Amino acid sequence: MAYFDLSGQTAVVTGAATGIGEAIARRLAGAGATVAVADIHFEGAERVAASIAAEHDGRAFAVALDVTDPASANAAVAAVLARTGRIDIWVNNAGIAGKAAPLWEQTDEDWHRVMRVNLDGVFYCSRAVITHMRERKYGRIVNIASIAGKEGNPNMTAYSASKAAVIAFTKSLAKEVALDGICVNSVAPAVVRTQILEQLTPEQIDYMTQRIPMRRTGTPEEIAAVVHYLASPDCSFVTGQCHDASGGRATY
Ligand SMILES: NC(=O)c1ccc[n+]([C@@H]2O[C@H](COP(=O)([O-])OP(=O)(O)OC[C@H]3O[C@@H](n4cnc5c(N)ncnc54)[C@H](O)[C@@H]3O)[C@@H](O)[C@H]2O)c1
Repeated sequence: MAYFDLSGQTAVVTGAATGIGEAIARRLAGAGATVAVADIHFEGAERVAASIAAEHDGRAFAVALDVTDPASANAAVAAVLARTGRIDIWVNNAGIAGKAAPLWEQTDEDWHRVMRVNLDGVFYCSRAVITHMRERKYGRIVNIASIAGKEGNPNMTAYSASKAAVIAFTKSLAKEVALDGICVNSVAPAVVRTQILEQLTPEQIDYMTQRIPMRRTGTPEEIAAVVHYLASPDCSFVTGQCHDASGGRATY
């Protein structure tokens, strides 16, 4: 018997054209799921989907998705349902770091850009898929938050606030659908080596790494391993939680 088996299931991973999202998509496909690689960067999504499909019997396809646009979120759900007829797993992973700078240097647009992707995106996508999951009485939603949402990183006010909001959103939604067979959890990674770090200064990355007791960055695959459990049927009595993948940085 295979544990955390996802055979026959459909998973949607947002922001999966690279980084943590790509690793999650690969992991879920490896566990048997058909994976929709959803991203605003469609060419990247197509490249990742083709590579996963080649490795896993064609069980991946690309979907164009801008999480900041509610119509795009609804269209992505419709496109996936037209293709596979079901969505068992939705991973809200798309996110941006924003500008690394103190509050007094952040413009209105800097703030809203981060909120639109990191927070509005989770709202639009979760709302778009929740009716389908409630009708089927089954679903797993996993939101990628950040340790910044628990600890607050200086020079990242918008990012930290958006991720704290994602953690709270997760707790609220989990309670709303607790009787519908749907589990909603979040994951709070510490620093992981992906392209998102290009938005930050070396000093900012150093600050964050120094605070990790393991004194190293995480890998996308280590985050994907946590998501895999939370996305599986084996995660059946765990909901509303924030699971740290932070090398010990936060222990609460
Ligand atoms: N890398 C880290 O250190 C770290 C730490 C904690 C949390 N996270 C979170 O993990 C998630 C993934 O981060 P990553 O490091 O892989 O980032 P990344 O920059 O490597 O990848 C992010 C992906 O999201 C996509 N994206 C951006 N805006 C989008 C939009 N509007 N609609 C759809 N897709 C969009 C990008 O095209 C890209 O493919 C993010 O939510 C991030 O906040 C990352």
